Amino acid sequence: MRKKIALVGGGQIGQNLAMLAAQKELGDIVILDVEAYVNAAKGKALDLMEMAPHGNYDANISATSDYKDIAEADVVIVTAGKPREAGMTREDLLAVNLKIITDVAAGVKQYAPKAFCIIVTNPLDAMVYAFYKLTGFPKSQVLGMAGTLDTARWRAFIAMELGVSVGDVAGTVLGGHGPDMVPLPRLTTVGGVPLTEIATKEQIDKLVLRTREAGTEIVKLFGKGSAFFSPAWSAIVMAESYLKDKHRVLPACALCEGEYGVKGLFIGVPCLIGAKGLEKIYEIKLAEDEKAQLEKTITSVKKTVEETKL
Ligand code: LAC
Repeated sequence: MRKKIALVGGGQIGQNLAMLAAQKELGDIVILDVEAYVNAAKGKALDLMEMAPHGNYDANISATSDYKDIAEADVVIVTAGKPREAGMTREDLLAVNLKIITDVAAGVKQYAPKAFCIIVTNPLDAMVYAFYKLTGFPKSQVLGMAGTLDTARWRAFIAMELGVSVGDVAGTVLGGHGPDMVPLPRLTTVGGVPLTEIATKEQIDKLVLRTREAGTEIVKLFGKGSAFFSPAWSAIVMAESYLKDKHRVLPACALCEGEYGVKGLFIGVPCLIGAKGLEKIYEIKLAEDEKAQLEKTITSVKKTVEETKL
């Protein structure tokens, strides 16, 4: 039997998730959206079914507004919620998206209690925390998608700046999904060569800043709504590592219970993702300035999480 991927939210990221999951033949796909948008989601599902002969994939793709239809899903990816508009911070979305996540958590808990859940809704670090608290799922089963995207952006900007193949750029970004996130130049390499030896301090500072503001850069260009291609791919990479037991080490927003000095908060950290979900968090020995930067992002995340009152 094929695996089942439930996509809660059929908007811009949701539709790209559906396309990528189909192209990669990760399983059958159910897009869930609220009544007002379900016909649009049904149209997208049908369109993707009609793309299959050329896309060369076998997958049943459907849409629904009824949580019953996500029953026994193997993976649930949650993008439901309002996206940012120009001038808004991710935190401005807290109240409205917390309500949405509360409904989603109830539905997923009832119908797909074994699913590996990836939360994408902003403000990310608080929404994944809320989903975890509201479902009571084990921490191995709940991750937020942020670091995988932030690291993709870090790698992309380095490749663009230095004129090197993006596949040769390796690195990681820690912390919350906001302007305090912590790219780690010291641990970034290009084909094994340390970034710090081939880029100037000015270049690195510029790359760090652009990565921190990358989501906002796109929101400004759109005017309304946020990025969707790269967030979708980033969540798919996490889902694929789970479904295929790939044991990829990806930065993701995971519940820390002592790691990096964090207790009871979801923070972006390097995670090993396999068939058991989050299988391990890797701790990196950080330099003093990196520790200070991490402290700052942890304080910001804590503040947003406290606003959920959960
Ligand atoms: C971004 C949104 C998805 O960073 O948070 O583009």
